Parts: sequence; structure tokens; C-alpha cells
Amino acid sequence: MNKKLIAPSLLAADFANLQRDIEMVNTSEADWFHIDVMDGMFVPNISFGMPVIKAIAKHAKKTLDTHLMIADPDRYIKDFANLGVDNLTVHYEACTHLHRTLQAIKAEGMKAGIALNPHTSVRVLEEVIKDVDLVLIMSVNPGFGGQSFIENTYKKVKQLKEIILTHNATTLIEIDGGVNAENAKKLTDAGADVLVAGSFIFSSENQLQTISDLKNKIA
Ligand code: DX5
Ligand code: ZN
Repeated sequence: MNKKLIAPSLLAADFANLQRDIEMVNTSEADWFHIDVMDGMFVPNISFGMPVIKAIAKHAKKTLDTHLMIADPDRYIKDFANLGVDNLTVHYEACTHLHRTLQAIKAEGMKAGIALNPHTSVRVLEEVIKDVDLVLIMSVNPGFGGQSFIENTYKKVKQLKEIILTHNATTLIEIDGGVNAENAKKLTDAGADVLVAGSFIFSSENQLQTISDLKNKIA
């Protein structure tokens, strides 16, 4: 069985103490940094852009997992590659020529991910699954941290796992939104490989311990 990963979402970090929170993740048992980019168009909210990601990249010592909640993401693929991003995930709902977008991300040397909104069926990925390094299943509607987990996610994880196995693909399944100590194990049991957690980690008293406990739960 492959190792299950935790990706703290910096959206829930204290932006006035960003370096401190990045160092916390560096020293923790977490595996990736999850970076949420929102444009106020694809989602109602605006998070942060290139200067902030550049500052994060300077201090972060783990995989930079970047989740683009932006319209027409092709415009910025090269810029994210130049910032040193490892995984670049675009939304299925934001890409007209998704196959081309995936190839463009990989041509820049990054891993290519597709994110699905809660209303989008995993079946839409059957024709491209072999070209995708990771699929991010949104377990809340994108745009904000701190929302409640949508229970239908378990079903989607199981369906996606079946599609991946049928096509003999190596795609990772990542879950994003409302992840906590109650649903983490159930998600990895259903087939998830990577769990993003924002408010559950950053609003806890002892963040290092919270990450460690989450890791132990899914080990
Ligand atoms: C939501 C973002 C998530 C968010 C998760 O649009 O994609 O990554 O930070 O936050 P929590 O874990 O608080 O739901
Ligand atoms: Zn995210």
C-alpha cells in the first residue's frame, strides 16, 4: 500500500506570520504545502498571487502543491513553473481544452492535476485519466476555507479509484475541503492518497501535534 499524504493549506495560515507557519510545516510530519490561488472570477474570493507564492517558495522545503481556482489557467502555466511549483492543478470547469492544458503543464516539468467541483462527476475524466498525475476532489464548494465536508465525496472517491484501476493509471486522489480527524481515515480507506487540511490544522492549539495525529490516523 502506498504512503498516505497530508497537505496543510496555507489559506488558513496567519498571513502576518507566514514565514513562521511555513517553518511549522517544514518541521512537521506533513508532506506537501497546499497553495490556493483564487481570482475572484472562477470563485467569488481572491486569495493571493505571484509575489506571495514567490515568498512561500523561498522558505518552503516540501512539495509545492498549487490549486488554481482561476478562469483560463493556461495564461499562467509558465509563471507557476518559473516560481518552482511542483504540482499544478487546474479546475475541470475552468478549462475548455483540458487535454491541451495538461500537456502544457507537463511540458513545463510540473505534475498535472485536475480539480473537480462537488457537482462534477468523476466520469468526465475517463478519457484523460492516463494523462493526469493527480485528481483533486473538492469536498466543499471552492472559494473559502472552514466549510463543512460534503458526505457525497466518499462515493466519488470510490468511483474514481475504480476508473484509475481500470485504466491501469497511477493517478493520486487528493481531497480538499472540510478534512478533519473524523473523516480522514474514512477517506483514505475509500481510496484517497492525499488529504488537504486548512482550518483543522491552523486553528488548532498545537499544530504540529494535529498534523502528527492526522498522519497516524491514516498511516
Ligand atoms: C477551498 C480551498 C481549500 C481550503 C481548505 O476552496 O481549495 O484548500 O483551504 O480549507 P479547509 O480545510 O478549512 O476546508
Ligand atoms: Zn485547495
